[in-house]
Amino acid sequence: MQNNATPIITLAIESSCDDTSCAILLNNKVLSNVITNQDVHTKFGGVVPELASRAHQQNIVPAVHLALQQANVTLQDVTYIGYTNGPGLMGSLLVGASFAKGMALALNKPLVEVNHMQGHYMAHFIDDARHTGIPQFPFICLTVSGGHTQIVLIKNYSDVQILGETLDDAAGEAFDKVAKILDLPYPGGPLVDKYAQQGNAKAYVFAKPKVDGYNFSFSGFKTSVLNYINKQKQSDANFVTNNLADICASAQHTIVSMLMKNLEACANEHNIKHVALAGGVAANSLLRKEFTALKQRGFTTYIPTFEYCTDNAAMIGITAYHKYIANQLGTQQASPQPRMAL
Ligand code: KG4
Ligand code: ZN
Repeated sequence: MQNNATPIITLAIESSCDDTSCAILLNNKVLSNVITNQDVHTKFGGVVPELASRAHQQNIVPAVHLALQQANVTLQDVTYIGYTNGPGLMGSLLVGASFAKGMALALNKPLVEVNHMQGHYMAHFIDDARHTGIPQFPFICLTVSGGHTQIVLIKNYSDVQILGETLDDAAGEAFDKVAKILDLPYPGGPLVDKYAQQGNAKAYVFAKPKVDGYNFSFSGFKTSVLNYINKQKQSDANFVTNNLADICASAQHTIVSMLMKNLEACANEHNIKHVALAGGVAANSLLRKEFTALKQRGFTTYIPTFEYCTDNAAMIGITAYHKYIANQLGTQQASPQPRMAL
């Protein structure tokens, strides 16, 4: 282990949705980041909350054990325990929170509660050579995942302002719903991305609902895809199979252009030249391309390593680390907050 004057070892737990994850950090560096995915939801076409919490119960002990082992750290070495306390699914959050609290009590170590959405933008501050760089304050982060879509102004680690967010579906959900309409397995976002590579993004025009400010709405878009596909299928049963790449490319183009339009306009209005991407949808190849192209218009862009974009405990660990050194400790009395605001 690295020798440091005051090494802080974080044990972080993330269990807000369907990934059970445990990470060990030495100060702002990740020593291990174990992520256990839950395959149990695939056949249902979406996350089933009750199954998610049961799977967390099965996965959490092995995930923590493996994270400690990979980091070559013992429980006695751990300085404190950080965990996700919201937002997320109540049953899922309860498993991580109860585990973290029980461990803190048994080991007589402090606790730090973490907001999952703060974790997504804080992933940029993990000290990792694979990152495109650490963002400079103030910056604007577009967080796009299966559960959230937000444009956030980050003035400092904990001083943030939401400038835009979805009024209905999240961007990842929009990708997943398009995939479902096309009979692709859940989560379909990566498959839409894959098929779109061979398609013509201008083949079909889908609705881009207009909403106030820098907010988003994807439900009208999803309905327009559904209605169009259903109509075409009436005259051609093989419409989807024969036009899969073009449909995926057009749908992807619609979602990405809605995201990028608001992000750029918002950054311009606030005169911010540093922009960041976070969340699982940051894996999307078109979004990455369009986001990176902002450089040509004077922006500095930041995208974390993919491992820290999708739900993971390392991003919870880095957030907890900054809270711990600012003495923002948690309590045994805290209850998970499924609708915790940023
Ligand atoms: O951040 P994340 O792992 O979990 C949530 O907090 O939701 O994001 C998962 C979401 C899913 O909706 C998935 O379909 C989407 O990210 N996603 C993608 C791609 N990779 C993951 N969407 C579009 N293109 C991708 N390449
Ligand atoms: Zn997330």
